[in-house]
Amino acid sequence: MISIENIHKKFGKNLVLKGVDLNIEGGGIFAILGPNGSGKTTLIKSILGMVIPNKGIIKVLEKPVKNNWKYRQEISYLPQIADFPGNLRVKELIRMIQDLRQKPSDMVKLVGLFGLEPFLDKKLATLSGGTKQKVNIVLTLMFDSPLLILDEPTTGLDPAALICIKKLIREEKEKGKTILITSHIMQFVEEMADEIVYLLEGKIYFRGNIEQLKAMTRQTDFEHAIAAISNQAVNA
Ligand SMILES: Nc1ncnc2c1ncn2[C@@H]1O[C@H](COP(=O)(O)OP(=O)(O)OP(=O)(O)O)[C@@H](O)[C@H]1O
Ligand SMILES: [Mg+2]
Repeated sequence: MISIENIHKKFGKNLVLKGVDLNIEGGGIFAILGPNGSGKTTLIKSILGMVIPNKGIIKVLEKPVKNNWKYRQEISYLPQIADFPGNLRVKELIRMIQDLRQKPSDMVKLVGLFGLEPFLDKKLATLSGGTKQKVNIVLTLMFDSPLLILDEPTTGLDPAALICIKKLIREEKEKGKTILITSHIMQFVEEMADEIVYLLEGKIYFRGNIEQLKAMTRQTDFEHAIAAISNQAVNA
């Protein structure tokens, strides 16, 4: 599904990705973890072609992403920071994205699930942070794509919305989809992820499941295992 080979990316003098190799065969939930600024969003944006690496090859569905755009039709992407035009109403934005993608959409079901009906006529600038995130989620999940990339999907969500998104993500997984998620909420990751990819100092420092991570760090709980992994790296 995704193959990443020796990706390097620098912004000015800041070398963010220093040789990332990652193969994701497909099917399941993959959590991309790492401290703030470790390059998770940069890696995701490189897969999407929104960041152009200085070196390396990325393939999605067997095809290089460089100078290619068609593969993006197979991806549903939830950006970490959704910078919506504030003057647009929610329903106008949804309609705009539907017109752009030209695919059947699950919009009505999702708007209902997240209780967004009362907000459809409101301008995006007037919404609370969590409500904006619900709109962000509806825009992402309303289309059927084999690959989902969700950058911090839980940001700002209340408990009811959190239950709802977890259920939706599980349903997508059951359909055989590949789902990449970044999150700093370890409880969410522990509940959802089949595999962990831990990014540190520009490289993949660990890849495996939660049990393997606990064994490697000799920790019994996941949150401590994640904390231990960064300490191990600092002391290495
Ligand atoms: N467009 C850009 N221009 C300059 N520097 C950038 C740009 N995008 C990211 N960076 C830098 O690259 C590094 C990695 O940023 P990135 O957003 O990928 O981190 P992250 O792992 O997603 O962090 P977080 O957990 O905070 O979301 C940071 O030092 C950031 O300042
Ligand atoms: Mg990020």
